[in-house]
Amino acid sequence: MEKNNRRKFLTRSMAFLSSTGILSILWPFLSYMSPTARERGAGAPVKVDISNLKDGEKIDLIWRKKPIWIIRRSKAMIDGIELEENKYKDPLSENLSQQPEFARNKYRSLKPEILVLEGICTHLGCNPSFRPKIESKNLDNVWSGGFFCACHGSKFDFAGKVYSGVPAGANLKVPPYRFVDDNTIVIGEMPSNKDEESAA
Ligand code: FES
Repeated sequence: MEKNNRRKFLTRSMAFLSSTGILSILWPFLSYMSPTARERGAGAPVKVDISNLKDGEKIDLIWRKKPIWIIRRSKAMIDGIELEENKYKDPLSENLSQQPEFARNKYRSLKPEILVLEGICTHLGCNPSFRPKIESKNLDNVWSGGFFCACHGSKFDFAGKVYSGVPAGANLKVPPYRFVDDNTIVIGEMPSNKDEESAA
C-alpha cells in the first residue's frame, strides 16, 4: 500500500515537472550530477586544480574516504629533505606498501615541489598535523617541521618519512596520482611512463 502511494506521488510529480517544462530545464543538471555522485561513492579518481597552491601551502581532499594532502614544498623544505640512515626508520622508502614505485626517490614524489600523501598516521590511524615552519624545533632539537601526530608523538619530515624513536613504524603513504599538466593532478591514477621519466 505504502509502495503504491509512493509510486503515485512520483508519477504525479514527474507529470507536473514535465507539464511545466521544469524537468527539461533540470535534466542536464541532474544527468550530470548522478554519475559524478556514483563515481565518488565508488572511489573514482579525483582531478584537482593546484594552480593557486602557494609555496608551503596544503590542499585537503577526500579520496576513497581517506584524507589526501597535496602540498607545494618551498625551496627550504625541499633542501631540508635528507636520507640520513639513523634519523629515519625507512630513509630509502624500502617498505613497498607505502608508496608506488614512482615515489621511491629522495622526495617521495613525481616532482620535488609537489608532495601528495595520505593524511593518516601509520601508527594507529590518527590525522597528523602539518607543521610547515622549518624553524619549528619546539618539539625536540632534531625535528624541524613536517608532520606531527599528537596522538602518541610520531614525527614525519617534509617527504612523509617517519623519524626513528617514535611509535609510527612506516612512512606516510603516497597514493597513486599523476599530473595532467603543471596545474592539474589526478588522485587515484598512475602516471604514464613519460611522467615517471620527469620524476625526481
Ligand atoms: S596514531 Fe599517530 S602516533 Fe599514534
